[in-house]
Amino acid sequence: MNHLEPRKSFSFSQNDMVDLFIQGGTIINVYSGELLQANIAVRNDKISYVGPLEYGIGKDTRILKLKKKIVAPGYIEPHFHPWDIYNPSSVGEEACKRGTTTVFCDNLIFFMLMGSEGFAKFIDAFSKMPIKFYWTCRATPQTPMARETNLFSAGNLRKVLMNPQVQSLGEITRWPELINGASEMGDLIALTKQLKKRVDGHTAGAKYDKLNRLAMAGVESCHESINGQEVLDRLRLGFYVMLRESSLRPDLRLLLKTVAENQVLTDRLMLTTDGSMPAFYQTHGITDHLIRIALKEGMDPICAYRMVTINPAVYFGLDHRIGGIAPGRDADMVILEDIHNPTPETVISRGRIVSEKGNLVEAFPKVEWEKYFPKASFYKQAWVAEKDLFSIPCSADSIRFPVIELINPAITRIHWVQFTTRNGLLDFDRSRFSLVALISREGAWITVGLLEGFGNGIEGLASSYNTAAQILVIGNNREAMSAAANRVLETKGGIAVFDKGRLCYELPLPIGGIMSERSLTEVAEKEKELKILLTAKGYPFHDPLYTFVFLPNDFLPEVRINYMGIVDIKKNEVLWPRRDLV
Ligand SMILES: [Fe+2]
Repeated sequence: MNHLEPRKSFSFSQNDMVDLFIQGGTIINVYSGELLQANIAVRNDKISYVGPLEYGIGKDTRILKLKKKIVAPGYIEPHFHPWDIYNPSSVGEEACKRGTTTVFCDNLIFFMLMGSEGFAKFIDAFSKMPIKFYWTCRATPQTPMARETNLFSAGNLRKVLMNPQVQSLGEITRWPELINGASEMGDLIALTKQLKKRVDGHTAGAKYDKLNRLAMAGVESCHESINGQEVLDRLRLGFYVMLRESSLRPDLRLLLKTVAENQVLTDRLMLTTDGSMPAFYQTHGITDHLIRIALKEGMDPICAYRMVTINPAVYFGLDHRIGGIAPGRDADMVILEDIHNPTPETVISRGRIVSEKGNLVEAFPKVEWEKYFPKASFYKQAWVAEKDLFSIPCSADSIRFPVIELINPAITRIHWVQFTTRNGLLDFDRSRFSLVALISREGAWITVGLLEGFGNGIEGLASSYNTAAQILVIGNNREAMSAAANRVLETKGGIAVFDKGRLCYELPLPIGGIMSERSLTEVAEKEKELKILLTAKGYPFHDPLYTFVFLPNDFLPEVRINYMGIVDIKKNEVLWPRRDLV
């Protein structure tokens, strides 16, 4: 540890009186890479002094005497999806307790449901929260939408990107379009760079030659590395790399081994939880969990803390404000009992103590959810999902049909199976396959397919939580599927499971049909309850909510159910079309 020599000539005036004085701590200096014993003065929401003096202490100054405790910059989560059944406020509260004082949030669901003007007001409301909410702007949805070109028009995206709280073009999931020279995407990247903002990639599965082309097209980062080689490839080609530990992909230990073995520079590495599910956050923590893993893996502590502080701050061009402890920076800091325990004792954000011993000093301000997500907007007119919708009509006696086979919670394979038909409907073995349907909230269209590997004991499950923001229905019993879908319609959003003629599980999601108003702890309990139920019915994987998220998307291999129909993603080919109902 290093000490600073007192400079006796330093003087300060009445105007320098500070609000908070942190005395005698050891700072993790992310700029010099030292552990440095120094006092820190805070005036309003800024750090006004770092050094050996007792600077600016007046009668109203609150003094924190630390005696050997560690002071680190507030943590930064660079890639956050604050809509995974929790909402930005409830997950923000949890992040705050755990020392994360800045989050860079995916705007996907908010923009899809509110449009550019509503989203601008929402950004404004969240700019006044106890922690900082920055946003990333998706260039496209992650599933085809009926009104996609209107919503994701160049004009609308320009408005979002120009907002000072928006810091990057969000993860580009349709990167093959970029490689094929899609000019709209190229124009959007050019605009983003003109605005001096970042272009976040989602280069999942891209091999070295494709990464070259994506880097050439302007993509600057990626959080999708699932093995060490992918980390190295991306670093070598100039990408910033976010190493991920999420409920879906707990890969961080493996990725850090490659970092250690290859002794790569860590300046362009960051850590992310990439929108983990609530029970994961409740059990493990948020950014503090990531640092803990890095420390346990033997990483130099200063490097570990830098990956969640100054590195993301530099990436987003905000290191003049966040990511370090120095005069003029925002007063976002955490106080730790020990450098090896990253879960903070005290959290300071915007110059105020916001959390102590894992409890918020004050709850986050109430959000008027109804203002941003009016319940009435779930659909224009009430309608009923009849059981006959959940069938696959076909005129031939026998049909070769593309079954969606789940390989893990997120990845699928196309399994072509020959089926016979009965009374004009595809007939299938209910002990092996389930029906899966995506229905528009308005009852305007439906795509119906078959699912293998989900768990065939489920009679009827419906969820408005998915990234198509429509209603996903799974089951082997058409009455139960219809009952579950109708329950979600009746309550205007949620997850409902029917079994043996009764509602056996329900999670209302009144915020846009995607998010709960309840605390993170409460939704974590509901998530666990759902997992226990689905596991008992044969669901074999660890993250069922992610199965709902990804079944309707348009970018992960190999086959998906969405607005277009049952779609072969790689070939961009509709294998079985949707049915329009109106
Ligand atoms: Fe992500």
